[in-house]
Parts: sequence; C-alpha cells; structure tokens
Amino acid sequence: MPKYRNSLNVDKDNEDPRISRRSFLAILGVGAGLIGVGQMFGVSLLGFLYPSAMKVPPSTFSIGRPEDVLARDGKIFDPKQRVFIESRAGRVRIQTAVCTHLGCTVNEVETGYACPCHGSTYDQVGRVTGGPAPLPLVFYNAYLGAAGDIMVDKTATTLDYEAAWFAPPV
Ligand code: FES
Repeated sequence: MPKYRNSLNVDKDNEDPRISRRSFLAILGVGAGLIGVGQMFGVSLLGFLYPSAMKVPPSTFSIGRPEDVLARDGKIFDPKQRVFIESRAGRVRIQTAVCTHLGCTVNEVETGYACPCHGSTYDQVGRVTGGPAPLPLVFYNAYLGAAGDIMVDKTATTLDYEAAWFAPPV
C-alpha cells in the first residue's frame, strides 16, 4: 500500500515546503497538457474570431507598368485575379473570367468564352450567347496608380465594351 494517496503524492503532514521530484514532474506534465489543450482551442478560437472578410483578396490590384502591359498586343488570362487583360493599340481593358451563372472560370474560345461547368457561352465582348448564364461578363475600371502601375478596380464595372478601354500615358 503506498504511503501517500493524494493526486500529487504528497504527505500532507510533512512541514517541509519542498516538493518531491515525482510531484514536480507530475505538475510539469499536467501543465504541459493544459498548454497543449489551450493551444488547440486557442488556435481554433482565434481562427473563428478572425473575420473571414480579411481573407478576401483586395478589390484593386496592379497589372503592371503601362509600357509592359501595352507591349503585349493581345489577350492574356490572369489566373490569380481571374480576369482577361486585353491590350490593343496603346489601350487596355480588363474583363472578368467569372461565369455569371455559378462562378466557374470561363475559357477563351474562338467565338468568345465558354464555361466548362454548365455550358454557358459568351461572345467576344462577354454577351451571353447560350446556356444558363443570366448576365454578361463585366469589364473592370482601369486607371493609373500613384506608383505608375496600371491598376484595376473590381468594384467599378461596366458592360460598355468600348468605354472599358483605358489608354494610359506612356
Ligand atoms: S457556372 Fe458557368 S455555366 Fe454554370
């Protein structure tokens, strides 16, 4: 039969303020366990409290220096921003690649754009030509940023494919 039967294996009648090595290790073990559990809950709690709106990418972004953007004559796809950047004759316009049906990324095809998800099709300027898509593909406003880059503002849109062209000073 053990001499002491409490949780820290301490003799309550002993006046010696020092704790035994076994008690110290027991306290250390309990402390480490509490820290581990606290971290598990703390991390998930912080993740929960951290507003998910903060994870949304910014609505304005740079597409590069005017001379570089205009040097590319044609249309390229930016997968990060999910936009098509079209440069022609010293002008540039930026169009969304997000299908207006359920948000898949459209592909550029000979006739315009086609969505691989449910078959929506758009013409060269993004007008719906088939499928379930309810709306055309919008163009985003472009402007010259303070640092000299061409900036795109996703909050400013237009369906006017002629007015969407932006001619930056070079
Ligand atoms: S998401 Fe494009 S057709 Fe449905």
